Order: sequence, then structure tokens, then C-alpha cells
Amino acid sequence: MSTPVIGIVGCGDIGAMYAAHLDALGPYPLICVDPDADRAAQVAEAAKTASVAASVRELLERGCDAALVTSSTASHPPLVEALVTADIPVLCEKPLATDPRETERLGILAEQRGVPLWVGFQRHFDPGFADLRARTAAGQLGRVHVLRMVSHDMTPPPTARLRASGTIFTDLMLHDFDLARWLTGRSVARVSADGAALSRPELAEIDDYDSVTAMLRLDDGALAVLTAGRWQPLGYDVRAEILGERGNLLAGPDHAQEPGEQTTPHHRGYWDRFADAYRAQLAAFLVEVAGGPHDPAAGGWRDSHAALVCARAAERSARSGAIPTAP
Ligand SMILES: NC(=O)c1ccc[n+]([C@@H]2O[C@H](COP(=O)([O-])OP(=O)(O)OC[C@H]3O[C@@H](n4cnc5c(N)ncnc54)[C@H](O)[C@@H]3O)[C@@H](O)[C@H]2O)c1
Repeated sequence: MSTPVIGIVGCGDIGAMYAAHLDALGPYPLICVDPDADRAAQVAEAAKTASVAASVRELLERGCDAALVTSSTASHPPLVEALVTADIPVLCEKPLATDPRETERLGILAEQRGVPLWVGFQRHFDPGFADLRARTAAGQLGRVHVLRMVSHDMTPPPTARLRASGTIFTDLMLHDFDLARWLTGRSVARVSADGAALSRPELAEIDDYDSVTAMLRLDDGALAVLTAGRWQPLGYDVRAEILGERGNLLAGPDHAQEPGEQTTPHHRGYWDRFADAYRAQLAAFLVEVAGGPHDPAAGGWRDSHAALVCARAAERSARSGAIPTAP
């Protein structure tokens, strides 16, 4: 195949980030789609070789070899369906859909048509998390007892973006629900959770939280404690630790530090913390687009489905207050 033409469907923050990575990896000819024509034009102008299409329909008429669906979460299902039905390989940002049945329907549609459908769980391509998974699978820790996982944004995304993303459980903590399975190879058997709107009280008005905790029990009896939040002024903070019968392994921070010691944030957000992981994920996707093998680290619809089921259970738990009662 000559250099593939890639559609970027959704030219907001993460769409612009992917376009920059594609420029660095290729450059690949891009076709940028966004109902906000200014955003599409901005991303196209920043790329070495790009043009704008007014809709996915126009993108398909002009022809592309693969597409990234990087639009607002609620728009993913119809866009993915249109692309997969046209036999275009898709890398869709997480989550594939916010409804488990819709997730399954899209996944099965892609499988039946034999069309690659990736879901953007870029942490699978982060060297630290990949190493943690490999060493756990190799038995370095023996039996896994407890996972501790942390996902904290430095500052919250705009409220309009949060409103379009479901809750923090289906948006940010979705990654940790996914990692709990991916790092251990187990599935999640039980979920309880709680949430509060502390740094952004107005989130309570849209039934969302900025600080959440969740507890999981995996199907082999191992336990997990998760925290996620939208406010960490010292920097974007994503870590995971696994404790087992032979000790512990940790993936995440650059180095140990005292609280308050840090003056400059190590990372400001997903775009710099996971830059290498996004590039590796994209490069692996492009290998498959060119007819090469499927990378086993790729996120798929089953990962999105399993993480979403946990996220929805966590939402129900947080809303019902069905947490062990205070003494
Ligand atoms: N993997 C991660 O860690 C990660 C990080 C950030 C965002 N995301 C995901 O990426 C997606 C986008 O997030 P963002 O922060 O870039 O949001 P954003 O609001 O900055 O951008 C979304 C863009 O999608 C466009 N859009 C809406 N409907 C569309 C449609 N039908 N067709 C084409 N474009 C459409 C909007 O006009 C907007 O420009 C979300 O699903 C989010 O969950 C994932």
C-alpha cells in the first residue's frame, strides 16, 4: 500500500495531538473532519499535508485507508458504524460507546466484517505498564493480593467537555478499570465506589464528581483500590502498583519525592505523560492498516465493554451510597 490516507474525525484536543503524531511518524496525508469547521481547519493547517472534509460522508466519498475517531464521546457510535460499514479500519478513542449493548453491537459488526476496530487504551503501550503486566504474568510477584491505582488530572477539562463524556467513572477512571484486568489477566467480580465534587462543586449539577474512589474484587479474590480526580496542582499523576506474595512492583512516577518538594510539574496531562505510548499505539495500528499483524496490546471492544460495565457499576454504587456505613 502507498502511504495511507488517514481521516481524523474530531479535531479537538486529542484529535490535534494525534495529527501531530501522524505528522512526526509519516507524514501521512490527513483528512480532518469536525462540525466545528474552524477546528478542522486549524488541525489541517498545522499538519504538513492535510485537507478538510465537511462530514464522514464526504471523507468516505473522497476515500481514506483508515480513520481515527477522536470526537466527543457521545458521537462515537454513529461515526464508528459508518466507517466500519465502509470497511475502513478504525482507532476510536475510549470509550467506544457509553452503553454496553452498543459497544458489543459495534464490536460484533467489526468482527463480522473483518475490519480492525481499536479502542484507544494507550496505557497498554506505556513501557512501565507493559513491564508491570509482563512481570506479573511471568510470576515475579507470585499470587497477586492487592492493586493500587491512581489517575489524577492536573486541572479539570472544560465543563462542556466533561458534560459530553459521561461521568469521571466512564471517562477518566475507565482507564483504571481497564488496567485492573489488563495488568492481571483477571476479570472484575465486584465494584463499590464513592464520589464527591470538591474542587469543582458545579460538577454536582451535572451528576458528576471531581474526586472518586473505587474498590474492586477480582475473580481470583485479589483486591484493588482506585482513586481518580480532576485536580492535582503538582502535576498529572498516573500510577499503578501491584502487591503480591513476593513483594510489590510499581509503574508510574518518574522518581520518589516528598509532597511539596516539587516545584515544576513532571507532566501536565495525558498528552505529555503518554506521548510515547500514543505514538507506539498509532504505529502499531498503522502496521495493521498496512496488512501487518494485529498487536496483542491493542485495546478492543471487549476491553471497552468490560471497563464500561465496571464504570457503570461504580456510578450506581456512588449514587446509591451503598458503601459500608460509618461507625
Ligand atoms: N485516551 C485518553 O486518555 C483520552 C484523553 C483525552 C480524551 N480522550 C477521548 O477523546 C475524545 C475527545 O476528547 P477531547 O478532549 O479531544 O474533546 P474536545 O471537546 O476537545 O474535542 C472533541 C471534538 O469532537 C468534535 N465533534 C463532535 N461531534 C462530532 C462529529 N459528529 N463528527 C466529528 N467531530 C465531532 C467537536 O466539535 C470537538 O472539536 C473523547 O471521547 C475522550 O474520552 C481520551
